[in-house]
Amino acid sequence: MTDKLVRQVLDQVDAPDPRVGEIVSALIVHLHAFVDEVRPTEAEWRAGLAFLAETGRWCTPDRDEFVLLSDMLGLTSAVDDVNHAGPDNMTPSSVEGPFHSPAPVREPGAWISEGPERGRGTPMVVHGRVLSCDGTPLPGATVDLWQAADDGLYDSQDDAQRPGNLRGLFTADEEGRYCFRTIRPSSYPVPADGTAGRLLRAIGRHPMRPAHLHYQVTAPGHRPLTTHVFLAGDPHLGSDAAFAVKEELVRRPVPRTGGWEMDGPYEEVEFDLRLVPLGWAPGG
Ligand SMILES: [Fe+2]
Repeated sequence: MTDKLVRQVLDQVDAPDPRVGEIVSALIVHLHAFVDEVRPTEAEWRAGLAFLAETGRWCTPDRDEFVLLSDMLGLTSAVDDVNHAGPDNMTPSSVEGPFHSPAPVREPGAWISEGPERGRGTPMVVHGRVLSCDGTPLPGATVDLWQAADDGLYDSQDDAQRPGNLRGLFTADEEGRYCFRTIRPSSYPVPADGTAGRLLRAIGRHPMRPAHLHYQVTAPGHRPLTTHVFLAGDPHLGSDAAFAVKEELVRRPVPRTGGWEMDGPYEEVEFDLRLVPLGWAPGG
């Protein structure tokens, strides 16, 4: 490595904000180490810069290609991990993804599936409890959830779904319980027509995310939790394009008949969420 050059660049850093100085200095060191390792040709260096410029051109108010790129490289999950450490018995967090939007308030047990997917998909009952890490129920916790339909589309991607379809805002009861009825989501591809998709093809990767439901849970005195529940048996569980799968978040839907005010056969998923008390510290 050209240590002298790296030192010269670092010596010029005089950031008024020390954290900015720390971040940019580390970036400089890692970028130079990258060049030292990869030894790019000038054509490759130019292609890399053009790739980033094109990524910017894909960004619109409704689509952030840089976030997608970050997801596909595991960067989003890495940042999530370093910011959400907690006790072993907490429910791990997982990335929010790009499809969250305000959900309609719904009653306990309500159907969140109100579009054409209701007549096609496999009915599912999803329920569980919101708890503190030590198992204490958290009555009044809010459970905000969203999912794709059986064809892999969210309401914002599908003219056949009304806004708010397959979304719901629930309040946990006095024992911390929540419940809703829906249809089984399917795995889906992330948008692959931009630079993130080009990168995936260039390195021989698929764009699929395994079937999942998204949760955002809040309760007084606890850290908000953003996470997923993934459905066991999905062929893409081991190769999620966004690297968001954690084994504690995988549940196997159980085939059922009867109960939960369901007419015919359905699948049941039970998923408890354990939130970390505010002020938790390692070893504390
Ligand atoms: Fe999703």
